[in-house]
Amino acid sequence: MRIGFFDSGIGGLTVLHQALRFLPNEDYIYYADTWHVPYGDKPKEEVKGYIFEAVDFIVKQGVKALVIACNTATSIAVEDLRKTYDFPILGIEPAVKPAVQSCEPKHKKVLVLATPLTLKEEKFHNLVKRLGQDDLIDSLPMPGLVHLAENFQFDDEVVLPYLKEKLAPFDINQYGTVVLGCTHFPFFKNSIKRLFPDDVEIISGSVGTAKNLERHLEARNLLGNGTGNVIYYQSGIKVDDPATLTKYKELLHKLDYN
Ligand code: DGL
Repeated sequence: MRIGFFDSGIGGLTVLHQALRFLPNEDYIYYADTWHVPYGDKPKEEVKGYIFEAVDFIVKQGVKALVIACNTATSIAVEDLRKTYDFPILGIEPAVKPAVQSCEPKHKKVLVLATPLTLKEEKFHNLVKRLGQDDLIDSLPMPGLVHLAENFQFDDEVVLPYLKEKLAPFDINQYGTVVLGCTHFPFFKNSIKRLFPDDVEIISGSVGTAKNLERHLEARNLLGNGTGNVIYYQSGIKVDDPATLTKYKELLHKLDYN
């Protein structure tokens, strides 16, 4: 059976990219909720409805595990999904913990970039509270990056002006780590890096999620013997248009999105 990957759009490809590195002998379903992207600036209950509809579809295709490759969807729905379905469902959350661990000894702060919905949610606030380092952690919603990614606009000419405007109120020299808390953001890692001092780390939760998936499959004896084949769906419709497939494959294999 395949492993399902779900995101509001193309962002989850940055997580699937890592899964293919750690688990090349699996086959996958990638589901982008193209009709409803972006999730991050919509009301929570509306988005929850979209997520359940999508997951219901993915489950009907038959999967042995599901990765909610979207920080926003994880924060609002992963617990309810786990209560509803009886197979491994993994989520992704902003990698705040490793960021705090690496920044604390350097007396630097952490900047978390995510969608407005992720940053508003209890799950994020609880995560920050648990670490007991509120004053070390700043956050900044960057919904514009989701729009740019969905329009396949990755060029510095359009990306840098947006990033500069959003970062203008911040003293970038106080940060040791920038956390990419939305799966669409690793596409812009190089542009983001350019705006911070050289020693600033830019991290995401995608490697951790891929390793977690591997651990789950191993522990349940669910490892497969596939070939890394991916079937793509957009809001319940199988993608077979060659131009879209080429774009997806390019994004999946092009960069190191860690
Ligand atoms: N890719 C998603 C995330 O990780 C959400 C993007 C959106 O639909 O707003 O949060």
